Amino acid sequence: MSGGKQLPFLAVFVLLVRCQQKPTVTMTPELKTIFSGDLFYLGCNSKTSGSSVKWYFNDSEQHQTKEIFEIAVASPKHSGSYQCETNGQKSDTFSISVIEHGPSASLTIKTGHPVMPKGGAVILQLYHEDGLDGWLCWVYRREKKQRKSIRFKSLDTPTDFTFQTLLTDPMSIFWCTNKTQQEKRSNQVTVRISDQDIFLEMYPLPAVVGEPLTLRCLVWGTDRISKAVFYKGDTVIADGKAFTHKIKDVTESTEGKYKCDATYTHVARTAGPDYHKFSDVQDVFVQGM
Ligand SMILES: *[C@@H]1O[C@H](CO)[C@@H](O)[C@H](O)[C@H]1NC(C)=O
Ligand SMILES: *[C@@H]1O[C@H](CO)[C@@H](O)[C@H](O)[C@H]1NC(C)=O
Repeated sequence: MSGGKQLPFLAVFVLLVRCQQKPTVTMTPELKTIFSGDLFYLGCNSKTSGSSVKWYFNDSEQHQTKEIFEIAVASPKHSGSYQCETNGQKSDTFSISVIEHGPSASLTIKTGHPVMPKGGAVILQLYHEDGLDGWLCWVYRREKKQRKSIRFKSLDTPTDFTFQTLLTDPMSIFWCTNKTQQEKRSNQVTVRISDQDIFLEMYPLPAVVGEPLTLRCLVWGTDRISKAVFYKGDTVIADGKAFTHKIKDVTESTEGKYKCDATYTHVARTAGPDYHKFSDVQDVFVQGM
């Protein structure tokens, strides 16, 4: 008799435990509307960390076993439903819908580079044809998983806003939105900091099929670069005196990991051999037309 009474309780208990173990998919930075070109991460949050993760897109398993699923350059082909699984428990579906075009406002780097030395600063410029009434900007700091707002003190013109930002984190993503209508937005600008004094700069990012892409091998504090070599993976793609390499016509196969190495000296250096260093590796993602 008493054994029979305990059964429903046990069933509820088992169900409860199962529910608690179910992972959830979250998006960072949280974007109300996703435009082509956006960068964001899907995270699989579960109580039991450390276990391996499976990801599903439209019910088919993906080659991805990390807790974080990175979508580096969003395009409509990423639209669909995402699920993650840990310990045999599947999350609810998480729907993503990527708009075919870019957003209406533009955010650009006015002064600075997409990769900067530690302690550096960049000046960003926001432009929106329809005016910037009720707008503000955001920064997402990947390492700290922190999102903060940047409020406007005064606009330069009704359609322009320029702001300077100190770079304190390995990676920051900036974008701007209308405060109340968050579907009105700018593109994102990603700025990384590097410990190296040599770095590979790319312009523009993301690379677009059919458009040119310029790679530059830069060294902080000097333009006395006598030689620069550009690599895709471990293959040399350009080797010479020019510290710029232009890819005239980007195709899908342009995608990959790039780096450069430079031979250089400083003005103040009067003796000794030139320096020779490699930059960090940078990923190039290609966006379709
Ligand atoms: C994924 O599913 C969505 C919704 O059914 C569909 O619109 C989209 O085309 C699918 N994407 C792929 C790549 O199969
Ligand atoms: C931003 O949102 C506010 C409040 O909804 C609206 O009054 C304003 O016109 C919007 N501005 C732009 C430029 O979209």
